[in-house]
Amino acid sequence: MRIFESATLLLLIVLNANYAIADEPRLGRPATAEEIAVIDISIPPSGKGLPAGSGNAVAGEDVYAQKCASCHAVDGTGKPADKLVGGIGSLDSAKPVKTVGSFWPYATTLFDYIRRSMPLNAPMTLTDDETYAVTAYVLFLNDIVSKEQSVNAKSLPRVRMPNRNGFVDMSGVR
Ligand code: HEC
Repeated sequence: MRIFESATLLLLIVLNANYAIADEPRLGRPATAEEIAVIDISIPPSGKGLPAGSGNAVAGEDVYAQKCASCHAVDGTGKPADKLVGGIGSLDSAKPVKTVGSFWPYATTLFDYIRRSMPLNAPMTLTDDETYAVTAYVLFLNDIVSKEQSVNAKSLPRVRMPNRNGFVDMSGVR
């Protein structure tokens, strides 16, 4: 009886192995180039890969009023969501205020972040021009660019953020 049971078990294992080879899980399918392109949108600090298009804070003010102000307040001072403006020079004080203006080292990251995740309730719905314009507006609110300055693939990487040199590369330190 024991031998019979073992034989059955062995048979089951063998059958199972055959089954696995003949009929693998077949879950999903390789993503197409088009599908990858939609989410392959990371912009590094250098700005490589920034799309065509442009915008300035004059145009951005409208986009901001319609699609951002409800969460970040009219002038970017926050509530209910993050404060986007101010705090410049406060990082080494007793009460550091971290915002795009005071903390973020690269303006290109602002474009990347807004394009992929904002507005929070409808991410990836802004056009590239709207994204450039509202990026310009947030920079303008922080006194980093003028209201008319055109923000585009060429000019954005050149924008110098106040905290650009505030980060220390610890990658070589154990
Ligand atoms: C429905 C609410 C909502 C709307 C609308 C919205 N945001 Fe946000 N936003 C948030 C929240 C919440 C966070 C914080 C997300 C987190 O920390 O993961 C955030 C974070 C951000 C940040 C990062 C702030 C930081 O210092 O970390 C930026 C920049 C930003 N939003 C810009 C925008 C812009 C520009 C728009 C309009 C196009 C917009 N947001 C619309 C809710 C919103």
